[in-house]
Amino acid sequence: MHDNTKEITKLVLSAKAKALKETSHEPEPELTQPIKWPVSCTVGPGLEGAIACETGIGYVNGAKGWLIYRGYNIFDLCAYSTYEEVAYLLLYGSLPTLKRLESFKKKLMQYSHIPNTKRLLMSFPVEQMNPMAALRLGTSLMRQEFTDVEADGYVSETVKMISADEDSIPMETKPMGEKHAIYEFDSKLEREKSIKDSLLHATGYESCHHLIAGVASLAAAIARIRYGHMPLEPNLDLSFAANLLYMINGVVPNPVEERIMDIVLILHADHGMNASTFASMVVASTLSDIYLSVGSGIAALQGPLHGGANEAVINMLKEIGSVKNVKPWLEKALAKKMKIMGFGHRVYKAYDPRARVLAPLAAYLSKNNTEGAKFLKIAKALEKGVAAALSKEKKIFPNVDFYSGIVYSSMGLPPELFTPLFAVSRVAGWTARVEEYLRHNRIFRPRAMYTGTFDKRYRPIEKRKN
Ligand code: SDX
Repeated sequence: MHDNTKEITKLVLSAKAKALKETSHEPEPELTQPIKWPVSCTVGPGLEGAIACETGIGYVNGAKGWLIYRGYNIFDLCAYSTYEEVAYLLLYGSLPTLKRLESFKKKLMQYSHIPNTKRLLMSFPVEQMNPMAALRLGTSLMRQEFTDVEADGYVSETVKMISADEDSIPMETKPMGEKHAIYEFDSKLEREKSIKDSLLHATGYESCHHLIAGVASLAAAIARIRYGHMPLEPNLDLSFAANLLYMINGVVPNPVEERIMDIVLILHADHGMNASTFASMVVASTLSDIYLSVGSGIAALQGPLHGGANEAVINMLKEIGSVKNVKPWLEKALAKKMKIMGFGHRVYKAYDPRARVLAPLAAYLSKNNTEGAKFLKIAKALEKGVAAALSKEKKIFPNVDFYSGIVYSSMGLPPELFTPLFAVSRVAGWTARVEEYLRHNRIFRPRAMYTGTFDKRYRPIEKRKN
């Protein structure tokens, strides 16, 4: 392992030691037995406390500040694993053998090659679109384009011919004369058939692999298009994390950047029944397909109360502008009962273990990045102020989004890419939980307490005064 990356592993392990020390007083959780439905639970607004299903995929202990993926604690996975291995673990339930991991990585590499989808995406005004809206559009285009052609990584003659001749998006050009029309019609037929076949198992693991790899390619392509560059095809010799940075920047990252990106991807991969995971599962529970489920996850993640908070944090730190402004800014924010971005959590009433890893990574990176160093100073002062004001009575601590933006900006990544990067990682959790839930599927259909009346009489419009 490259020497500096050993330093990164040490940072993770000391974060683990600190977490264990600070939460050792909290009781250990008991093993839960398989649920005997129906269960009783106290439910608050926003389904707070509601038990939606049983899972073996991930566990969040809010009191102890624990995050577990399939029994492994997040600190160990960050210290010793890789995103590919963690995605496999979430999907299949156990750590892979070397052989299985190699074939899984090969599969992801193959699926990260989505030239037709990118070509389709580029026919939309991506540079003017919200990046998460573009990402969600991309998953629908992936759904359309997921044919054997892309799955096997080769481009069939017909498609190549049309795109080569027309130098535009296959199936998009108007038929020019009999020859093209026949090709387009035939290939459309043939492609429609294969699209239908491929969508038959569109909730299958192949689609999960396609989405985990493809969403990373899409996020990178969207970043490049927004900056006026052509998207890059994946570099098949690189790891998932290195390839993601390469496809964004066009430069192969150094081992430390690769390692840190890998850890960030591991940290964001799954997190219990959060809003975007739940959204994906609700869509899947109607037996819609996994592409549309992941599209719903992307839509939910975009919100600043959820994954969109990482970008909102950087904008907040920019607005505060300096350490000396933190106090007056915070006093005003608290007086207005504003939600401080990057703080608080529905489950964690202790320090988010992910923030425990991200903060030292931000400190490590900001040593060579002035903007990152400035953000970090303001963030640390803000954390202190919020802790004094809110941690004791309201148990408000930094969450995953508070330091992740500083890590990304110290790696030269633009704020509008932060939430798409969150989505790139979380596709593993979304698809794993959809797959798991579909095994004992039941359409989600909670209740709403009706508090209206029952006996209103209909009045014709001419008789209505106000
Ligand atoms: C993510 O669910 C997940 O696991 C999500 C996630 C994942 O990995 O999928 O962990 C990722 O979304 C992290 C959260 C990112 N969002 C933010 O950082 C936005 C700021 N945070 C808040 O909006 C809020 O903390 C939530 C949305 C995260 C949680 O909201 P809840 O559980 O609905 O809490 P609440 O709004 O009911 O607040 C309870 C009290 C309130 O005070 P009172 O009305 O009781 O007086 O705590 C206060 C809130 O005002 N509070 C905050 C606060 N968060 C809660 N006060 C100031 N700043 C905050 N950030």
